[in-house]
Amino acid sequence: MAKALGVGIAQSYADQVEFQIADPSDDACLSFEAMVGQYTTVSRATSNQEVAEHCDVVFLAVKPQFLNSALHTVSWKETGPLIVSIIAGVGTLQLERITGSDRIIRVMPNTPCLIGQGASAIAVSDSHSPEDVETVRGYLEAVGKVVTVEESMLDSVTGLSGSGPAYVFSFIEALIDGAVLTGMARSTARELAVQTVIGASMMVEQTGEHTAVLRDRVTSPGGTTIAGLKALEENAFRDSIMSAVHAATDRSMDLGD
Ligand SMILES: NC(=O)c1ccc[n+]([C@@H]2O[C@H](COP(=O)([O-])OP(=O)(O)OC[C@H]3O[C@@H](n4cnc5c(N)ncnc54)[C@H](OP(=O)(O)O)[C@@H]3O)[C@@H](O)[C@H]2O)c1
Repeated sequence: MAKALGVGIAQSYADQVEFQIADPSDDACLSFEAMVGQYTTVSRATSNQEVAEHCDVVFLAVKPQFLNSALHTVSWKETGPLIVSIIAGVGTLQLERITGSDRIIRVMPNTPCLIGQGASAIAVSDSHSPEDVETVRGYLEAVGKVVTVEESMLDSVTGLSGSGPAYVFSFIEALIDGAVLTGMARSTARELAVQTVIGASMMVEQTGEHTAVLRDRVTSPGGTTIAGLKALEENAFRDSIMSAVHAATDRSMDLGD
């Protein structure tokens, strides 16, 4: 996720930003340098402490279970950096307790940030300075769309757009397999499935119509689409998706505990 954000931000801000990275994994550093280093300067810090001391904005991008081990030896300066956490589930109060800083903004991006098509949310409260919020918004807008939410909604954002790309990948794969089952070549099925998802998504966005209205327009009485929709209903398609968002939201809450 750090790479996805890094590439997008580096492409948009090019000469205005430099990155310093710390990660115990040599491979992770090399891969970040290879991808983000094409657009701006990337240097490797010897410790998380070094990043905390030298950077104006620090992104926390570890898995929730590694947060304590990543930060327990780090001491932050009194006028410390703006800390941006992309970590699912871990609340601002907990982050403040761990870092001793009150200059923290939580965000939830998703992996399409890598190609500038991210969907991100910023949790904004009255305690944030407008300048800090605008700084973070600018970075996230460089990699896609941004909404602001109250922090209490951030687990739901994780369940929807944070985990959502995986649901959509599964949906596309199922479309392809369905067509392959009917005898279509996989490459042709892939092309049609991907463009169908892009096209339908863009129709929802550009027409502003309710999805039910758009669906009804392509569902003629006794036709093929209603036969397909009935099969989806019989297999609890919409219930499955709603349950997926709910389960991922619950899991995000668990991770913060
Ligand atoms: N993946 C998504 O779609 C997504 C979407 C939104 C938000 N997020 C959030 O983004 C965060 C990162 O997720 P991810 O999928 O990018 O995980 P990831 O691929 O495991 O990346 C986390 C990186 O942090 C490194 N790390 C571990 N311990 C560290 C330490 N002590 N100091 C510095 N770096 C350390 C890891 O190194 P090692 O490889 O050596 O462990 C790894 O390179 C998570 O909190 C997740 O909730 C993820």
